[in-house]
Amino acid sequence: MKSILLTGGAGFIGSHTCLALLEKGYQVYVIDSFVNSSPNSLDMVINIYKKKYKVSNFNLTIFKGDLRDKYFVKKVFSDIYKVNKKIDGVIHLAGLKSVFESKKDPLLYWNNNVLGTLNLLEIMDSFECINFVFSSSATVYAQTKNSLLDENSDIGPINPYGNTKLTIEKLLNDIFNSQENKSKFASLRYFNPIGAHPSGLLGESPIGIPNNIFPLIINTAMGLQKELKIYGNDWPTKDGTCIRDYIHVMDLAEAHVKVLDFLFKIKPTYFNLNIGTGLGTSVIQLVKIFEEVNDVEVPIVFDKRRMGDAPYVVADNTLSTSKFNISNKRSIEDMCRDGWKWKKLNPNGFKSF
Ligand code: NAD
Ligand code: UD1
Repeated sequence: MKSILLTGGAGFIGSHTCLALLEKGYQVYVIDSFVNSSPNSLDMVINIYKKKYKVSNFNLTIFKGDLRDKYFVKKVFSDIYKVNKKIDGVIHLAGLKSVFESKKDPLLYWNNNVLGTLNLLEIMDSFECINFVFSSSATVYAQTKNSLLDENSDIGPINPYGNTKLTIEKLLNDIFNSQENKSKFASLRYFNPIGAHPSGLLGESPIGIPNNIFPLIINTAMGLQKELKIYGNDWPTKDGTCIRDYIHVMDLAEAHVKVLDFLFKIKPTYFNLNIGTGLGTSVIQLVKIFEEVNDVEVPIVFDKRRMGDAPYVVADNTLSTSKFNISNKRSIEDMCRDGWKWKKLNPNGFKSF
């Protein structure tokens, strides 16, 4: 059985990825500080897994701690190597992700995201652990016109959060180039993950007030806020609102497993890979679909454009579909249905457990 270290495994993408790894038969080790998550998400992963496979055992071990603490990271590796002799691969999702917060506190973002990754890579190096999947973001791309973004599109993040992601990509590239091609590194540039596990038992449980569109649509439908502010209806798009490439979090989770399996089979490499559907949905379309599939109302009000927004951010996903067989099975309707089911069943997220 291959063993995977999953950092940030209690978070939104991490918990779904953890489940996808367990379902594929991996032994999973999670590191999480719970700075933006709850251990309850991992309890739920275990429950879903045990129920589905009618088993009482599961291959998941959780280490609570911060990647910035190098001694902690080293101890985790030592403990795992004592028992299991190796970590076959690392999926590194741990990081802070709010653009807004990163502008207010860039030191925190550089410290958490970059220092945490440096520590992890140094310890991996000392244990000769070479397979690494990193959660980057479409935010590393420069803002463009209405054309699909492929992996060679212009780069140019415009906020500290995006700068930390690009810096880590560069670091991986530098390490790869320095090591006589020893490493196998992949940076996955996610577009906009939304939705939840179809059971309604696992989903996004943000700590604090969300800034992203999907949790805000849900909050509006729940009546937690009177209306959804739409940032601009004068963008150069069909209905004047911004277009994004929304991807179901389960498709994103499964994409990690496919990329990891690919790394195990190939020669040393470093590559960047878009993880998106290639389909664009405007804010108004997203709200309408959400209202229709869930039979709810989401009152809207138009506001001025948000600083730093781009009208059209959609992946050219040719590489991920052709080379990695990443299929994106779930539709935008599924994303809206599953996200709403999660919130209805768990109005307080994992806080209510
Ligand atoms: P999340 O906040 O739900 O999960 C991140 C997890 O990492 C949390 O459980 C948090 O407690 C943990 N963490 C943060 N810093 C840590 C540290 N120093 N040590 C240990 N644990 C730490 O976020 P998410 O949406 O699941 O995103 C996961 C990754 O994907 C992040 O790196 C994020 O930047 C990236 N990403 C997310 C999106 C998105 O829209 N959600 C888009 C592009 C990229
Ligand atoms: C944002 C971040 C991006 C990050 C991504 C995923 C910015 C500028 N970009 O991207 O770096 O990788 O989240 O975490 O913050 N919208 C509204 N009303 C709202 C909220 C959003 O109309 O209350 C609109 C936005 O203007 C945008 C779309 O909805 O057009 C999607 O917004 P959001 O969910 O924040 O994602 P991104 O802007 O793509």
